[in-house]
Amino acid sequence: MSRPKVFVARRIPNVGLDRIAAAAEVDVWPDRLPPPAAVLRERVAGCDGLVSLLTDRVDAGLLDAAPQLRVVSNFAVGFNNVDVPACSARGVCVGNTPGVLTDATADIAVTLLLAAARRLGECATDAREGRWVTWEPLGWLGQDLIGRTLGIVGMGRIGAATARRLHHGWGMKILYTARSPKDDAERELGAHRVDFDTLLAESDFVSVHADLNPTTNRLFGADEFRKMKRTAVFVNTSRGPLVDQAALAGALRNGTIFAAGLDVTDPEPLPPEHELFHLPNCVIAPHVASATVGTRDAMARLCAENLLAGLRGDPLPHWVNPDVAGRQRPR
Ligand code: DGY
Repeated sequence: MSRPKVFVARRIPNVGLDRIAAAAEVDVWPDRLPPPAAVLRERVAGCDGLVSLLTDRVDAGLLDAAPQLRVVSNFAVGFNNVDVPACSARGVCVGNTPGVLTDATADIAVTLLLAAARRLGECATDAREGRWVTWEPLGWLGQDLIGRTLGIVGMGRIGAATARRLHHGWGMKILYTARSPKDDAERELGAHRVDFDTLLAESDFVSVHADLNPTTNRLFGADEFRKMKRTAVFVNTSRGPLVDQAALAGALRNGTIFAAGLDVTDPEPLPPEHELFHLPNCVIAPHVASATVGTRDAMARLCAENLLAGLRGDPLPHWVNPDVAGRQRPR
């Protein structure tokens, strides 16, 4: 039997790529930028497997152009770029990479929280650009962290890892929202599950870890920022569309909240002229939460394992649509 064909939508670490290449005929998109949608569709047609990134839209049109496609292995834990129901309807398996990027992402959430609370972006710019003229008793005053209250929106793996760092490191009291109670977090961190409005009103820091779906789209708008403390710091490491960015910019500009730290925006990249880049109380990173050598290697390994399992017709180690079991598209 001929080797299966796989399209890999960008270079991923060799630990994953080499495993895929050992079992399949691989076409790797070589550019720094993602393949345009029409090109992606063209390259995937005739393929048995696809390694997609969060920048690649996998929709019904692409799936219909690829009648042999059996598995989509997303190089990310989030999979809002993939139309999962459309994949399931066609017997196409979808895999993702949970777990391995939990610590790296929680580290960035904490980094952004600290940077925003202590005005690090503004301080560093002022120091570099000559506005550091002396030691000032009232200069660059930020927010204290010890013993404050952290609100986690979405207490999954990453939310819990962020809460753990800030509870054990800074003694923060933890509030959270989640679809169901999280017994482990309640036991280990003394976390309290509260309704969304209570979390907004009582938290000194609000960190977002919910996935993007129709119920979380624009979860944070003007009303939500108004319900937060004027001293609150807002952190988002999940997906940009959870936030109404015009409302966030307004809240930061008017002092409705103190500061924000974002690893994700809408769109990505955010154009350099966007107001959020020009507000001194907003720190923005270019979606780098999982960007460590070890994490990206682990994601590549898992991504390859999902892909190869799907090609063999086996259960995927991390299977987003296990409802496809027993009716996977045959070779
Ligand atoms: C993911 O895996 O969903 C992250 O956003 C990528 O860093």
